[in-house]
Amino acid sequence: MSIQVNLNTIKHPVSNQPEKSPFNAGETLQEKTSPMTVLLLGSGGRECALAWKIAQSPALKHLYIAPGNGGTGAYGENVQLSPLDFEAIEKFVADKGVDMIVVGNEDPLVAGIYDYFQGREGAPLIVGPSKAGAALEGSKDFAKQFMMRHNIPTARYRSFTAETVAEGEKFLEELKAPYVLKADGLAAGKGVLIINDLDEAKASLREMLSGMFGQSSATVVIEEFLKGIECSVFVLTDGNGGYRILPVAKDYKRIGEGDTGPNTGGMGAVSPVAFADETFMKKVEERIILPTVNGLKAEGIVYRGFIFLGLIEVDGEPMVIEYNVRMGDPETEVVMLRIASDLLPLLRGAAEGNLGDMPLAIDPRYATTVMVVSGGYPGSYPKGKVITGTDDVKDVTLFHAGTKLLPDGTLVTSGGRVIACSAYGKDIDEALARSFRGATDVTYEGKYFRRDIGADLKAILSNKK
Ligand code: AMP
Ligand code: GLY
Repeated sequence: MSIQVNLNTIKHPVSNQPEKSPFNAGETLQEKTSPMTVLLLGSGGRECALAWKIAQSPALKHLYIAPGNGGTGAYGENVQLSPLDFEAIEKFVADKGVDMIVVGNEDPLVAGIYDYFQGREGAPLIVGPSKAGAALEGSKDFAKQFMMRHNIPTARYRSFTAETVAEGEKFLEELKAPYVLKADGLAAGKGVLIINDLDEAKASLREMLSGMFGQSSATVVIEEFLKGIECSVFVLTDGNGGYRILPVAKDYKRIGEGDTGPNTGGMGAVSPVAFADETFMKKVEERIILPTVNGLKAEGIVYRGFIFLGLIEVDGEPMVIEYNVRMGDPETEVVMLRIASDLLPLLRGAAEGNLGDMPLAIDPRYATTVMVVSGGYPGSYPKGKVITGTDDVKDVTLFHAGTKLLPDGTLVTSGGRVIACSAYGKDIDEALARSFRGATDVTYEGKYFRRDIGADLKAILSNKK
């Protein structure tokens, strides 16, 4: 299969380039491909997909995954380290000669892993923002203020605390239903309430402010409801104005088919996204990516890592629903398939603050993923169910999320989201057929998956025909 190379040659304004580049084009790639030891933090499907991609790099000496899962061991060495135990990580880095840490999930970033290592002897490179940058995800109020300062399109909003709850109720009265209430801080993906009834919204505002999500909802952002279709745009930035836009993906958040029922960590994903065409992406780059990357730099916020833009298309116009400071899960399980270039030199370039003109080639094929989950998820669910069928799948890459390999080699479930079944296809139908086939072949008691992943995008594509 020939791979069409899209060099993603976005011309940046001269002022966005690092003042003095230590590399010329030839040197950049060479310098950045000397072998390195990498420590990847996290244990989900996202980290399994990152490990799969990093492990393919000729520039990799050794990959550790902390703590990893039942699938990541195929691509590197799992180590029992908590991503939040910075002292233990520091010791491990020194013992093993780790050159670079890739931070998969947001918690260590929001807790300041980048800042922890600054100025320390033998500090590794870190792919991920400073604590100040991680506030784009760690505080929705900060993110909204940042967007206001840089004129980035987002829903109209105001923030409230226990002292200003009466004003909050008044603000709700000014808005139209449905009402969107967001806990300011991290709330394990549960901190957003969308409520149809005004009185109920007021009651929820009071409950949130009196500790529904602990300290995370001591401040609540209330914002206008936006109606449209969502997509996830990922940017890898070096903090010096250099960036690459990774393949766009769409995820499916609700547990039930037709986007019904409670929110989950994500039930599937598709890339590319039919409506995120060139015209849309040009707007995204000009109105959102450039002001974000340049705004961070102008404010002196160190940010060398992934920016995840949760976008919504409202009448053809992109608006920001949220920032995350990491890759998406399960979007990574399709985005990694579509990156044709060696990812490791790009990660290194970002962490060193100099992406230079390193190419990012995109695979033109479709990639899809279907997540198989435990029965009962996102509510309570059993663990330890024996998983079979993983050796029998065809044309599918299984990215483990909630799995564990027992000492006797038995693979068992250990989480709500169990395995992401990712596949390529010449078109969306072929990729989805393979992902669904994989989701059918993987077997354990209580397995569930959504059979309508990608159905909305297929409908858009057939309307375009
Ligand atoms: P967040 O945690 O900010 O991603 O919010 C979770 C989900 O709530 C988003 O993916 C959207 O589906 C929805 N959401 C958040 N903010 C809005 C909004 N202003 N209008 C409509 N839907 C929203
Ligand atoms: N799939 C959405 C997220 O990772 O937050």
